[in-house]
Amino acid sequence: MSDNYRRLAPVYTTLSRLFFWGAREQAIRWAMDRKFEGKIIVIGGGDGIALSSLLHNREGEFWETSQSMLHLAKHHLRQSKLSFHLGQFEGNVKAEVVFLPFILDTLPDSDLEELLIKIKKSVLENGEIRVVDFYPTGSVFHRLVLNLLIKFHQIFTSHRRSDLPDYDRILTDFGFVCVAKKCWWKGFICAKIYRFSDLEP
Ligand SMILES: C[S@@+](CC[C@H](N)C(=O)[O-])C[C@H]1O[C@@H](n2cnc3c(N)ncnc32)[C@H](O)[C@@H]1O
Repeated sequence: MSDNYRRLAPVYTTLSRLFFWGAREQAIRWAMDRKFEGKIIVIGGGDGIALSSLLHNREGEFWETSQSMLHLAKHHLRQSKLSFHLGQFEGNVKAEVVFLPFILDTLPDSDLEELLIKIKKSVLENGEIRVVDFYPTGSVFHRLVLNLLIKFHQIFTSHRRSDLPDYDRILTDFGFVCVAKKCWWKGFICAKIYRFSDLEP
């Protein structure tokens, strides 16, 4: 498996802190501060730095397709009880929370839908999908920032998209509804909590 984040992994957190002034980590923290019992599945968790204080003793699985990111995550999340996996999420597990931090924007729609098929089978009935990512806003400034980020990632990580997925539509098609959200940068960075839409209120 190619390691698309090999060059970025050692500097990823530093660069993103400089660029987003902490908004990325605040969004991750907000999504993870909601209480839950049981296991978590983290997919595309990167170097694990933003999660290190949030997953103490937490059980579940951590999936990464980048060997370099996974190596760093194992170190930064050594106080968790997660099992670490290199490759695509396999889906043979049930968890209360599936956490997707800044990964959905990197996937073409077909890969995203393939991943959601596995995730849907893995979320417990009362469980949640927690997404933290860039969302389209209609702002020209955000469009410029997004284009810059996409160009940067196309050069350094073989990024395969030129736009953002329509997360809400895709997740609605999969039977999920957004039940809570908080946004930063006037809606450009959002943390959203999704639950099965056919649950009783
Ligand atoms: C933009 S980075 C975000 C890293 C981290 N979540 C953060 O916010 O700092 C996307 C991460 O997702 C990983 N990734 C991409 N596709 C993946 C997949 N199908 N399964 C697991 N990880 C994946 C990449 O290797 C990379 O580390």
